[in-house]
Amino acid sequence: MSDRKILVTSALPYANGPIHLGHLVEYIQTDIWVRFQKQRGNRCYFVCADDTHGTPIMLRADREGITPEQLIAKVGVEHLADFTEFGVAFDNYHSTHSPENQFFSELIYTRLRDAGHISSHTITQAYDPVKEMFLPDRFIVGDCPKCGAAKQYGDGCEVCGATYSPTELKNAVSAISGEKPIEKDSVHYFFNLADFTDMLTAWTNGGHLQAEVCNKLAEWLAGGLRQWDISRDAPYFGFEIPDAPGKYFYVWLDAPIGYMASFKNLCTKQALDFDEFWAQDSTAELYHFIGKDIIYFHALFWPAMLSGAGFRTPSAIFAHGFLTVNGEKMSKSRGTFITARTYLEHLNPEYLRYYFAAKLSAGVDDIDLNFDDFSQRVNSDLVGKVVNIASRCSGFISKRFANQLSADCAEPALFQDFVTAHTHIAEFYEHREFGKAMREIMALADKANQYIDDKKPWLVAKQDGMDTELQAICSMGINLFGLLVAYLKPVLPRLAQQAEQFLNAGELAWPSAAQPLLQHTINDFQPLMTRVDADKIAAIVEASKENLEKTAEIKPAASKKFAPIADTIGFDDFAKLDLRIAKILAAQHVEGSDKLLQLTVDIGDETRTIFSGIKSAYAPEDLIGKLTLVIANLAPRKMRFGTSEGMVLAAGPGDKEIWILSPEAGAVAGLQVK
Ligand code: 2FM
Ligand code: ZN
Repeated sequence: MSDRKILVTSALPYANGPIHLGHLVEYIQTDIWVRFQKQRGNRCYFVCADDTHGTPIMLRADREGITPEQLIAKVGVEHLADFTEFGVAFDNYHSTHSPENQFFSELIYTRLRDAGHISSHTITQAYDPVKEMFLPDRFIVGDCPKCGAAKQYGDGCEVCGATYSPTELKNAVSAISGEKPIEKDSVHYFFNLADFTDMLTAWTNGGHLQAEVCNKLAEWLAGGLRQWDISRDAPYFGFEIPDAPGKYFYVWLDAPIGYMASFKNLCTKQALDFDEFWAQDSTAELYHFIGKDIIYFHALFWPAMLSGAGFRTPSAIFAHGFLTVNGEKMSKSRGTFITARTYLEHLNPEYLRYYFAAKLSAGVDDIDLNFDDFSQRVNSDLVGKVVNIASRCSGFISKRFANQLSADCAEPALFQDFVTAHTHIAEFYEHREFGKAMREIMALADKANQYIDDKKPWLVAKQDGMDTELQAICSMGINLFGLLVAYLKPVLPRLAQQAEQFLNAGELAWPSAAQPLLQHTINDFQPLMTRVDADKIAAIVEASKENLEKTAEIKPAASKKFAPIADTIGFDDFAKLDLRIAKILAAQHVEGSDKLLQLTVDIGDETRTIFSGIKSAYAPEDLIGKLTLVIANLAPRKMRFGTSEGMVLAAGPGDKEIWILSPEAGAVAGLQVK
């Protein structure tokens, strides 16, 4: 074991939504790096947690009629299940709503305060008089003060790109109640970031950041550092500030402290020394993998907070770019806003791990998931090159030699070439140049296949007296396969595990001192990976559109507290809707969908098939014979399961709470609703 001690984090995902493929770029990138470090024998810990505080989580819990604690417990379980199935192996997954996090948030705050780095003053903010709460910028909508575009958020215009304060918005309303906000004063607490200008100037130039990030930081520093507002008023889901009743730490204050808290929790479980990693004089390495959108928090606020509170600062921040799908921003309507769960329902997670690895570099460029390229790379590299080596050689070893590898290595020099490559490949992994590492490994796979092509074991097998040669060629192929899988193990842990079972020689170590397996009995070969099925990709896209269908159809009930008020429509638009009372003649489950029911409805003059996302709330047998409201003139929509010829009107926050709208008993099917 080396003497490197490494603590690694990925950004903490918000507990108000599902993990999607955009998130996974980072978790997979970090996981590959951590697995590589562990395989090299370094002591490396990977911690993460759900980021649980703040207004959106409080409001979502409220909309769902549950407490924020219930919401974050539920989402935490879902997040961890998604990560685990994608092979992301945290040493600890915790929550920012934890005693450890409260302890460290209070500790860091009081140390900063006692050192004179906290000030307080009164600020004026938008306030929702109905909901009796201050409104975050994102919860105020109105017309852009620069270009007049309607329905813009309080912090900036998506049409003209202007940034402004919410008080400048024209015709502003609260997105929560629809009410016009009033202005109200409140005392806020601020972290005096400018006290750390010298420290941050040195730190940001100290080799802890990627070059392009460093340049961005230089711009921010040159512009002068402003005080950071770290408090929010009740009602707020978070930690109350110790000396300020009714004031809470802003979610971004306690989120990065969540890294420490999760590690502290691990220390308790495994009797590790917390200070060894976080004390000012720690010799451990500390790395934060993050998206490029949260650099400001990690490269300015966080090192300043740590340094001001007497803790060590990070060894490095590794920022990555965003994910686009087929060259565009992920989009619900195109079916490219794909959740981790939807992907897992259809495809092998290791395809995505390999694809991301092949595309990732140490820079902050965005990466694109192109479905054609995805299939082509997985099929050609993993199935066509790597797995193929084992399947080409194992049949002969099994049938002709009772799974026994030969006593001598056929081509020691070739084997040694593969071993020597470990230096380069390790450098690439270490510096997060995973794409380059994958190319190097695939070049070796090409060499291995070339060796087999040249030796033609399928012809040798037909010749008498050539058994020794046949066994030697195939054993050589299998030994090269073992080295390739050892190099791919950080990326493809599941495939590596299956290959370890096949090779029957324990865990594949990093091949710096690898020796060929000689006179060794392997196990029967089981297919390790199949080609990407194009239908499965189509099914993912369709299922991702289906999520949209559900959200479009089911809006929170207007009466429910905190339900956002939808945009108004004119009467003329409303009059276009052909609303009918429909009788549900038949209802059935839809194979392959966990959200939809297929309904056959009588709308008076015809019978229609409608797919409706109400399965979580209704059993088919409860619906048959009931009357409901449908929109009869909605354009038919082609779905994976068939065409939906209308829409059933429903309301409610979702899950069990979806109510289809039922007219009075005794109404007649087909009656137009006016
Ligand atoms: O941007 C986000 O998704 C945040 N939840 C990341 C927090 S990272 C860390 F600081 F906790
Ligand atoms: Zn504008």
